Amino acid sequence: MTPSVPPQQPELIEEIARLRDRRNAVILAHNYELAEVQDIADFTGDSLELSRKAATVEAEVIVFCGVHFMAETAAILAPGRVVLLPVAEAGCPMADMITPDELRAFQAENPGAITVTYVNSTAGIKALSDVCCTSANARAVVESLPADRRILFVPDRHLGEWVTRDLERDVVFWPGFCPVHQRILPEDLRRKRDQFPAAVVLVHPECDLPVCEAADFVESTGGMLRRIAELPAGTTVILGTEVGMINRLQRARPDLVLIPAGPDLVCANMKMTRLVHVRDALLHDRHRVTVEPGVAARARVAIERMLAVP
Ligand code: 13P
Ligand code: SF4
Repeated sequence: MTPSVPPQQPELIEEIARLRDRRNAVILAHNYELAEVQDIADFTGDSLELSRKAATVEAEVIVFCGVHFMAETAAILAPGRVVLLPVAEAGCPMADMITPDELRAFQAENPGAITVTYVNSTAGIKALSDVCCTSANARAVVESLPADRRILFVPDRHLGEWVTRDLERDVVFWPGFCPVHQRILPEDLRRKRDQFPAAVVLVHPECDLPVCEAADFVESTGGMLRRIAELPAGTTVILGTEVGMINRLQRARPDLVLIPAGPDLVCANMKMTRLVHVRDALLHDRHRVTVEPGVAARARVAIERMLAVP
């Protein structure tokens, strides 16, 4: 989508503020979004925090600055609200790594198993699932399930392997992954640790299991913000996640030294949304995200089960 020629940034920010008031809108942004978008958002957070927010907002319009599955989750949790994804093409490749037909076949091969689905998935997959999880609560969700039942964990193999690594559970993993976090290798961490021996290594659980095992802390993006709040001033942190997190964390703790774990850790989808797209979303109702009511009703059950896990 080509946006119209943007006015100067301050004018654009004022225009967005005026449109937000006029439309009774709220702007939500994921932690990986560009700083210019985070700066004008009403709320910035990880997938779990954004889902909780979407479930409780009173605004009539939700502008979701993130990727498609996040806006879809908001549409499921906030029926009756207009949910807008400013860039229609902003998707998550992991969410497309399993189709409803593939999940049905997987379930048929494993009768009686409980399907645990990472929120990085389509509404159609959530609708076929027993319970959802995010990277922040996946462990708690798995622990809340009956111990004698097999679990099918979809679509992120790495998150599933990490959160069940030391549990005596029968789990079968779908071979999905995040192409960005997959790039981080254990050798990258070893090299960085050699270079910065006093550094703390903080990674996202979408990284491969050997990378998570080699880290000091494994956290969702929201968990990373809480984790760095505890670190002494001047600490060097090697960060195994999308590079947008560096800016997000650095603004919270300008006294830390933050270093990416590897090269090219960019999620292009999370970088598509610019201020002009947010303005156009509010101005032209771009791009409305809806979920077929029957699918939404079934998906909501799985998401609400997740939200009920303490
Ligand atoms: P968080 O839930 O940790 O914000 O992660 C979402 C995501 O897509 C990470 O790649
Ligand atoms: Fe999807 Fe990975 Fe981008 Fe997250 S970082 S939205 S999992 S591709």
